[in-house]
Amino acid sequence: MSQTMSPVILEAMSLCRTFKLPRTSLSSARAERHAVVDIDLTVNIGDRLGIVGESGSGKTTLAKLLLCLDKPSSGVIKFKTQELPLADMAKFRREVQVVFQDPRSSLDPRMTIDQIIREPLECLNLQEDHDTRIDEVLDHVDLERKMRARYPHELSGGQRQRVAIARALAPRPTVLIADEPVSALDVLVRDEILQLLAGLTDNLGLTIILISHDLSVIARLCDKVVVMQHGRIVESGATENVFRSPQHQFTAELVAAVPRLPEIR
Ligand SMILES: Nc1ncnc2c1ncn2[C@@H]1O[C@H](COP(=O)(O)OP(=O)(O)O)[C@@H](O)[C@H]1O
Ligand SMILES: [Mg+2]
Repeated sequence: MSQTMSPVILEAMSLCRTFKLPRTSLSSARAERHAVVDIDLTVNIGDRLGIVGESGSGKTTLAKLLLCLDKPSSGVIKFKTQELPLADMAKFRREVQVVFQDPRSSLDPRMTIDQIIREPLECLNLQEDHDTRIDEVLDHVDLERKMRARYPHELSGGQRQRVAIARALAPRPTVLIADEPVSALDVLVRDEILQLLAGLTDNLGLTIILISHDLSVIARLCDKVVVMQHGRIVESGATENVFRSPQHQFTAELVAAVPRLPEIR
């Protein structure tokens, strides 16, 4: 972690998201699912923050709230001290980008790689040469420029995830939220993509929020981590400390599940 605290870029205060479940024939009352419960979170510029927790612990729900793709039931999210949604959402959409788990479903199969990466540049109406920018981001993710003419199905899983990352980088975001970006990939490719993300955060000065159910994935990339269980944050701190001396029983179990301590950057 850096010695001096950099400015806060994203902040969640007492964040809750409750889903009403469909009525069952047995009962007229609608059950509720508390997916995110009373979460406080501060992300500083340049952070590499990991969010870890087992499946169903509320990670994706939290990500969608932070991305302003969903509305909290209660609580507040601030981006650069301003409460979401901002009056000017275009600025937020440019600055906070996302990569989802499965590049097969997140990339439109009818679009070429060129069109896929061009889309955010056009939608956000960015005033720069789009062709040049597409080449630049393909370079960033180590894909050949000739890939522009291809379709997603012509690419490997790892290449598709590189395209998803290139698309996210195209508008020059400040924050990248990656929700299980390597879970759909096999182990070797997983390492390559994590290495790529690590390089990008360093070289482009990106703030990254990396979400994974796998603590070893978080440890590869993140210097801070929050641990979620049943919608709540049960533990947070420097990744190294959380690894070395987990305070919460659940975290200890996650650590024990990692085959060997991965190299911490
Ligand atoms: N749209 C929804 N409607 C009802 N329940 C939901 C919805 N989205 C998520 N949930 C529930 O909220 C909980 C957290 O889900 P999620 O955020 O996807 O967890 P994770 O990403 O950690 O696996 C789960 O119990 C899930 O079933
Ligand atoms: Mg999820």
